[in-house]
Amino acid sequence: MYSDLDDLNRKPEPFSRYTTDTLWTDPWIAQKMLEYHLDQGTDLASRRVPIIDGIVDWFDRKIGLSGKAVCDLGCGPGLYATRMAERGAQVTGVDFSAVSLAHARAEATAKNLDIAYRQADYLADDLPGDQDIVTLIYCDYCTLSPQSRQSLVRRINRMLKPGGTFVFDVYTVPQFAARHEAATYGRNPMGDFWSPDDHFGFQTTFLYDEEKLALDRYLIVDLRRRFEIFNWLQYFDPETISAEVAQAGLVVEEALALTTGEPWTPEAGELAILARA
Ligand SMILES: C[S@@+](CC[C@H](N)C(=O)[O-])C[C@H]1O[C@@H](n2cnc3c(N)ncnc32)[C@H](O)[C@@H]1O
Repeated sequence: MYSDLDDLNRKPEPFSRYTTDTLWTDPWIAQKMLEYHLDQGTDLASRRVPIIDGIVDWFDRKIGLSGKAVCDLGCGPGLYATRMAERGAQVTGVDFSAVSLAHARAEATAKNLDIAYRQADYLADDLPGDQDIVTLIYCDYCTLSPQSRQSLVRRINRMLKPGGTFVFDVYTVPQFAARHEAATYGRNPMGDFWSPDDHFGFQTTFLYDEEKLALDRYLIVDLRRRFEIFNWLQYFDPETISAEVAQAGLVVEEALALTTGEPWTPEAGELAILARA
């Protein structure tokens, strides 16, 4: 117990562990995540419907969706994929959560939409080519190490037709300034989110000021098992994100406020980047 807690309170090297797959593919947690995706009372897994509607609206205005081949990486339960298909895009959704994809497929069938959903790891598995647009939404980019980010943007570059667009969003340096270090614990701290059984959850938040990086580190202990989750979040400004996207071969055309599609300002929250192959 002492060594577990001692370890939990030690600040690890940036991106020294990757646990994102546990968060989205553990059968219990993935089911709870799906509930969060669809819950209009929380933004924990997906943004709420009016915000998503607004985002798809400006994607359509700025880039044009009708008749385009669009691949939504990390599509989750298909909230964006469905809306883009309704606007006439030929959509492929890629995600490694079987639970979310089952919901996405059922929605597509119910709405009579022809969306191709693929269960795959976008960091490692084959991805579709000849795309006009690739999307990666809800700051998933920020959870990746610098090496994984470079490799992913290079993969996306290969997915796109010449002149095709990669649209994604990132957290920003003003949002990093609002974060604080903390250590908390509780019994069933998020209800039954982490486990259906009685459990204890410990959370430590570390900030890496120079790197503009935050880590939310969790240790979950119930009668049968213990597991750890490392949630890394990299925060960017238009210059830092443009430089790394350019290094992977794409050209950044616009830095926009995610929710409105208007030019980004430091008060605007998440930053959406439009980059061209
Ligand atoms: C924060 S959710 C966002 C879902 C969706 N984009 C939205 O905003 O509603 C992140 C999604 O990315 C998926 N994901 C994360 N890493 C992935 C990977 N390496 N390969 C495939 N899917 C991944 C998760 O399963 C999850 O559905």
